[in-house]
Amino acid sequence: MTAEALPHPFRLVAYETIGSTNDELKRLAREGAGEGLVIIAECQTAGRGRRGRTWVSPPGNLYSSTLLRPDCRASTAAQLGFVAALGVSGAIGELAPDINLRCKWPNDLLANGKKISGILLETEMAAGDRPDFVILGIGVNLASSPDETPYPATSLAEEDAAGVTPPVMAAAVIRHFASWLTTWREGGFAPIREAWLARAMGLGEPVQVRLERDTLAGRFLDLDDDGALLLGLPEGSRRIAAGEIFPARAA
Ligand code: BTN
Repeated sequence: MTAEALPHPFRLVAYETIGSTNDELKRLAREGAGEGLVIIAECQTAGRGRRGRTWVSPPGNLYSSTLLRPDCRASTAAQLGFVAALGVSGAIGELAPDINLRCKWPNDLLANGKKISGILLETEMAAGDRPDFVILGIGVNLASSPDETPYPATSLAEEDAAGVTPPVMAAAVIRHFASWLTTWREGGFAPIREAWLARAMGLGEPVQVRLERDTLAGRFLDLDDDGALLLGLPEGSRRIAAGEIFPARAA
């Protein structure tokens, strides 16, 4: 890795094998670690995904967690998942410019139609509605991707962009994320929402959204100010705060 300076206040600490980078960073945050600490691991033995899933974590891919201490309400802090998705999108776009990248609601990245990155945002609350800290866990498939996932998966290597190492991807994600974080802090969610929508998979199209106990078919109309998906249904539009989106034909 070239020793390129990271933007303030970001600093990177690398581990070999770890349970989950999110769990380790949570421990460090509870001990008082400051905003901007990023940890990466060569592999994880207990990597976690959204919706209680396992994130299979062999060597060669990026497993990173970033600590933030935003001064905002918890619902506003949830917007940071979209900021992170734009950071990952910028990094992949820089290191593998030939890949067709799309943002998949809420915080996934698709490379040539398959999932290449996922983000697990975890918030620990202080008093009232204020987060004490937010952990942004980011996985990017560089060398390999898992089989039999709910959404087809890929990696940079499988998309003809082999050779990107985890530290190089980590540094690129930090640089792009830092830039989008400044945009968010200065301009709020509007510019983030606009940039995310410009890269969104399925916007304006028929999609299926899997909820905890139900699947809805409708049209992906928009994102609201909290990042919830607005789904057009025959009876009107429905706001969906959590779920998983699939193209109508594939779900
Ligand atoms: C998802 O798409 O389900 C989110 C996946 C998040 C995986 C990353 S890998 C680094 C960090 N540590 C974890 O245990 N999970 C996140």
